[in-house]
Amino acid sequence: MTGARSTSGGPASGDGQPEQTEHGMTRRQLVRHAGWFGGAVVLTVAGGEVISHVAHDHDSAAAASAARTAADPNALRFVQVSDSHIGFTGPANTDVTGSFTEAITQINSLGFRPDFVMHTGDLTHLSTPEQFDQVKQMLTAARTDRVFTVPGEHDSVSDNGRAYRQAFGRNTSGDGWYSFDTHGVHFLALVNTLSLEKLGHLGVDQIAFVRRDLAAVKSDTPVVVFSHIPLFAMYPKWGWSTDDAMQVIALLRRFSSVTCLNGHVHQLFTKTEGNITFHSATTTAYPLPKPGQGPAPTPQVLPAGRLKDALGIRTVDYRVGGQALAVKDVRLA
Ligand SMILES: [Fe+2]
Ligand SMILES: [Fe+2]
Repeated sequence: MTGARSTSGGPASGDGQPEQTEHGMTRRQLVRHAGWFGGAVVLTVAGGEVISHVAHDHDSAAAASAARTAADPNALRFVQVSDSHIGFTGPANTDVTGSFTEAITQINSLGFRPDFVMHTGDLTHLSTPEQFDQVKQMLTAARTDRVFTVPGEHDSVSDNGRAYRQAFGRNTSGDGWYSFDTHGVHFLALVNTLSLEKLGHLGVDQIAFVRRDLAAVKSDTPVVVFSHIPLFAMYPKWGWSTDDAMQVIALLRRFSSVTCLNGHVHQLFTKTEGNITFHSATTTAYPLPKPGQGPAPTPQVLPAGRLKDALGIRTVDYRVGGQALAVKDVRLA
């Protein structure tokens, strides 16, 4: 669907038929359900930004506030998870399946039903069919209308992402990239991990897709860009950057609000450059060292009982007509 954009979320079916989501819903149903939220989420509008927090069950004021926003069709809430590394075995996390199961449970306990869940790559550790089957099956347990993914380099081991695309690449363009719109926000899902030679690289075909795709988007539309490897130079020495990202950044400069969400670095990091804010996500598997702290980005073994402090999920809120998106990182409970 080169250059085409779905108008209501998800890689477009491209055949004019109502596309079925992971849970068998059509696009139309997805939109209808998008306004449904339950539970204790407090939304505060401050300075044009929507800021939320998940309140405790005993907080009746919060529950009342959440009830007021529960039927708000103008609120978009989604979840980002990253780097589940299903199949990893090692002392840094002896049970990545258990950790990812807990992350899914946490999504299902947020107190609201996210409009979608985005996994920003390294779904698997070694790209085996069994690992793809397992992570896909696990993601179906998330109570959401749609699951999106972008691949990590661990999902492209020795096959340039072929097995990944068989499992998750339906209705994507090129080597697995796509875009979609919902709640007045334009989303791009990019691929910068196809092979070791192309690690941290988008390539001319994908950049041409982004150029065509964004040409139809108005400058006051908030834009969110997902990728596995950061689009900013977080630490190029370890491959924590994308060598041709500046060509995409240049195309994003005219938009009033751009949010780039990535994985790969297994730790939280945020920086703002003009109209663009970058947020690196944590992982559900194991932490990596801070940039430059150590000879290489190898899995870090934490003291007993401390692993969950380094793992987590991310919620993102947006209210139609607003500008910035509110990003909130939550440790694995
Ligand atoms: Fe990773
Ligand atoms: Fe990665």
